[in-house]
Amino acid sequence: MNKLGPIGVFDSGYGGLTVLQEIVKALPEYDYIYLGDNARAPYGNRSFEVVHEFTLEAVNYLKDRGCRLVVLACNTSSAKALRTIQQIDLKHSEDPSFRVLGVIRPSTETIGSLSKNNCIGVLGTEGTIQSGSYRIELEKFSPHTKVIQHACPMWVPLIESNQHQTDIGKKLIENDIRELLAMSPAIDTILLACTHYPLIINDVKKIVGEKINVVSQGPIVAHKLHDYLRRNTFMDAQLSKGGNCTFLTTENAAVFNTAATQFLEHPISASQIRF
Ligand code: DGL
Repeated sequence: MNKLGPIGVFDSGYGGLTVLQEIVKALPEYDYIYLGDNARAPYGNRSFEVVHEFTLEAVNYLKDRGCRLVVLACNTSSAKALRTIQQIDLKHSEDPSFRVLGVIRPSTETIGSLSKNNCIGVLGTEGTIQSGSYRIELEKFSPHTKVIQHACPMWVPLIESNQHQTDIGKKLIENDIRELLAMSPAIDTILLACTHYPLIINDVKKIVGEKINVVSQGPIVAHKLHDYLRRNTFMDAQLSKGGNCTFLTTENAAVFNTAATQFLEHPISASQIRF
């Protein structure tokens, strides 16, 4: 039998902290290792091959650190790497009880039922939108739902540099939202399909008004993970439950700690790692 291990939560950088926070709120008893590949972020505009290579490296690293389950909090990794990791890289693994999950499936299982008009707007990075993953997955769970997508390549750099509150930042954000809404007047639900976007959810809500429901993924992913662990008792049995959280980054730890305060409600102390 495997040693008990933590849940790994991976993101290209800081944004996954918004997902981790919701997971820890819902499942505080487990141990977690958060890994941000800040040195190589952003992933949003990278090719399938590169996102797969970087994500697999991170997954293997977390596995070597003892994780029994890794959640790819990053939408770009979930869109461009998860399927290959699950269907090819892990298929012949000598460790069949190790698992990797993403954020797209839990989101698409949930979001269809939130739209009265059966029309959902999805905002994400260039990579997530180009992959078509949300459209493909939503079609499975909610075939009557129309998906209108729009890529917002400027949002991650704007949020990370804290420029989303400047006049030009606000204008860029508003323009993207207007472009999405111009594609269909039926959109009544918008999914923020990127780890960083929950940080500006109030700004998005202000722009779209009360008639449109703006949804962030953290609570959905946390709820679905809870459900997954209840259904998959083999997984629950191999997870350690000490309530600890370790933070790792591939960039400078002090820089990570400072930037993380934008995403988390409490201070953290990360360590720098190399693959
Ligand atoms: N974490 C990425 C995502 O959710 C956003 C940042 C990046 O482009 O690396 O898609």
